[in-house]
Amino acid sequence: MARRPETEDARTNDEEIGICNSDIDLRSLNHSLTIRGKMPESKGNSTIPGVDWRDGDLPVSRHFDDPYFSAHDGRAETGHVFVRGNQLPQRWRDTEHCLIAELGFGTGLNFLETVRQWRELKRDGARLSFVSFEQFPMATNEMHRALARWPELTALAKQLVEVWQPEFEILETRFGEDIALTVFMSDANIRLPQLQFQADAWYLDGFSPAKNPQLWNPALLAEVFSRTVPGGTFATYSAAGQVRRDLQAAGFEVRRESGFGTKREMLAGRRPHA
Ligand SMILES: C[S@@+](CC[C@H](N)C(=O)[O-])C[C@H]1O[C@@H](n2cnc3c(N)ncnc32)[C@H](O)[C@@H]1O
Repeated sequence: MARRPETEDARTNDEEIGICNSDIDLRSLNHSLTIRGKMPESKGNSTIPGVDWRDGDLPVSRHFDDPYFSAHDGRAETGHVFVRGNQLPQRWRDTEHCLIAELGFGTGLNFLETVRQWRELKRDGARLSFVSFEQFPMATNEMHRALARWPELTALAKQLVEVWQPEFEILETRFGEDIALTVFMSDANIRLPQLQFQADAWYLDGFSPAKNPQLWNPALLAEVFSRTVPGGTFATYSAAGQVRRDLQAAGFEVRRESGFGTKREMLAGRRPHA
């Protein structure tokens, strides 16, 4: 499979991408949404640990020893677990602005497949904001290779790869006039508590809880809950009992749904209206 050379990565468009070194105010980028916070002393973005490739083109984190998405079909997994788990197709029919937040940007597959489906289903004039957290940003050539298996995403993946800068602290970019992407290249445990926003839907996608308990700890899930609109939702491929209990303790109503591929169950839920 063709690999994108590192030298093709360089791209700077000051109007679309910025690094904030002090207060973060992304209101203009995120369609009048308020996302604010202070930069931490250290951005918490760790040395990229690298990726191994299984069966040719399935990326597996060397650090966490876990694949980034289902070997069965990562794009279909995104649709099943995150898009439908959050009941987004039905909700998008009546939504003028949808804010999706994610723990674990990884290859960007969830974002790209969400954009693809949203463009098919959104109502006229609607806007999408996607905010994600990534402590170990992938090298650009690895992201390119990971996304190359889906012809449906080729054009969108090209756009993402062209703007991806793993060394940035924050990536802010637009996909057309109606979609704003913000990726905080930081440990979500550090960054999320510094930000103020209310998500309509959360994608909890941080490797398996057994391999990466840091991204599933009760304090972080409580931060997720407090940044969810009443009636807002979450979805995750995990069906772990501890995750279910911790999400319930945070305040979510949690239900089990049928999982994707070989996974029997997954979790989804809602922040109750007060
Ligand atoms: C299963 S992968 C996410 C896959 C991704 N959503 C996609 O569409 O490709 C989990 C991601 O969480 C990231 N991660 C792990 N611990 C983290 C943390 N504490 N804060 C932010 N990101 C973290 C990993 O580096 C990895 O990219």
